Amino acid sequence: MSGILNSSIGRKFAMALSALFLMIFLVMHVSINFTSVFSPELFNEMSHFMGTNPVVQGLMQPILIFGVIFHFVMGFILEAKNRASRQVSYAKNAASGNSSWVSRNMLLTGLVVLAFLGIHFYDFWVHEMTVKYIEGDMSGLIDPNNADSGFRYYEELREKFVSPVRVGFYAVAFVLLSLHLLHGFNSAFQSIGANNKYVKSLKGFSKVYSIGIPALFIFIAVYHHFAH
Ligand code: HEM
Repeated sequence: MSGILNSSIGRKFAMALSALFLMIFLVMHVSINFTSVFSPELFNEMSHFMGTNPVVQGLMQPILIFGVIFHFVMGFILEAKNRASRQVSYAKNAASGNSSWVSRNMLLTGLVVLAFLGIHFYDFWVHEMTVKYIEGDMSGLIDPNNADSGFRYYEELREKFVSPVRVGFYAVAFVLLSLHLLHGFNSAFQSIGANNKYVKSLKGFSKVYSIGIPALFIFIAVYHHFAH
């Protein structure tokens, strides 16, 4: 692994693989969370399955967390190396217009998503890890001593979207996530060499994905805010 990361192509390839992995995670994550809009029962069932399944908890989740950390750390390394190797300042580069604002500001959009993840982990993931692995309650029930109390996931999610400040911040972060994906999607496929006759359809799909997924996340947050 370290050999690959010693070359700029190797680093870009590894970065692209982590990006593609996270893009698959986003499809799963938005699908599971979207069920909370039309079926609280289904959302509770799926959250409990994902939250207690040993393969998901013991294998997939650590890989995901590693993927998130790797993507951000490699993002900083690539950005630092790019800046070091670029003699001309961004201002001149902007004047020449040979790159889009989004491509020049992947670090900025990435940082906003990172800030979002910090708050998001505190809102949801830290709570999950505390209840399950510190308090030892794997029941998923509102009242672990009362089997009829029902699962807690849907109520907890709804609670998070009462605050207009949180919904506002999430929505802004999802817009920046969309900008990050609009450039990142194509550049990831380019870095793994998927630059062939399918590029045209891939470009079309990348727009649908990069606008559609964040738009669904915004819809979920705004829906639960107003559905209270
Ligand atoms: C309205 C939007 C969203 C909702 C309602 C939501 C909900 C949740 C919930 C309930 C969890 C805890 C799952 C568990 O550990 O059992 C979670 C974890 C997580 N979320 Fe989100 N999420 C949203 C948007 C996002 C976005 C946009 C990203 C990435 C940019 C993201 C990344 C993660 C990650 C990495 C975890 C921790 C891993 C996991 O446990 O699945 N989430 N989210």
